[in-house]
Amino acid sequence: MVKVKILPDKENASAEVAQELYDLIVEKPDAVIGVATGSTPELAYELLAEKVKANNIDVSQLQFFALDEYINLPWDHPESYHSVINRTVTVPLGVDPSQVHVPEAPDDAAEGPVRYYDEQIEAAGGIDVQLLGIGRNGHIGFNEPGTPFDAPTHVGRLTDMTRQDNSRFFDSVEEVPPLAVTQGIGTILKSRKAILMAFGDAKADAIRDSLAQPPAEERPGSGLQLHSDCIFYLDEAAAAKVDSELLKVN
Ligand code: F6R
Repeated sequence: MVKVKILPDKENASAEVAQELYDLIVEKPDAVIGVATGSTPELAYELLAEKVKANNIDVSQLQFFALDEYINLPWDHPESYHSVINRTVTVPLGVDPSQVHVPEAPDDAAEGPVRYYDEQIEAAGGIDVQLLGIGRNGHIGFNEPGTPFDAPTHVGRLTDMTRQDNSRFFDSVEEVPPLAVTQGIGTILKSRKAILMAFGDAKADAIRDSLAQPPAEERPGSGLQLHSDCIFYLDEAAAAKVDSELLKVN
């Protein structure tokens, strides 16, 4: 079941998401939060850190699980998700690095399941809130079109479109690693709540395909229709291709 909230812009949507996370942290100081990288959640993380600092909230018992990580990119590379999560979540919130988990697989990893990460998530009590962005082709995490909806954390191959899109963080597209370890859609569906954010017209097709058609593995975002408690926070541009009749139902 997916609820949809359309805000005028990214600033308003990010403020609402930051407030949801803040409320969770205040209510449950040992909450387990799934964190995405990419451009989309950056402002929400900033706003959350401001609130946490301003109100002197204890963050020492929180746990964070990143969605994904490139394979064959050194962790100290500025664009590894170890580095990105450290820069956008760990340091601004003032949590100890031991509270933050990022999936790992050996550099010579073959495509396929990497189950220890799901076990770690389970041992932490499961994810209370999983944050997500979405790719132009509908990927969530690095679950590219065709990934089974019951996939556990696994090593998968990035599509050319995803490598092209992520090349803005690198000097060239060749530098974007072709393989990544990612929470599976099955992992994401086990979270108690999922929050997907999407901003800008480049995401409008992916959002329409996630909401307006039945769940199908060629449209990874549509798998979230199978989630028990999922909300999409969209700006008007990302929501532009979603039928208003459908939004009334939601
Ligand atoms: C990031 C991730 C990806 C991104 C997606 C959108 O951890 O798993 O699914 O959320 O590629 O990226 P941005 O936000 O940069 O448009």
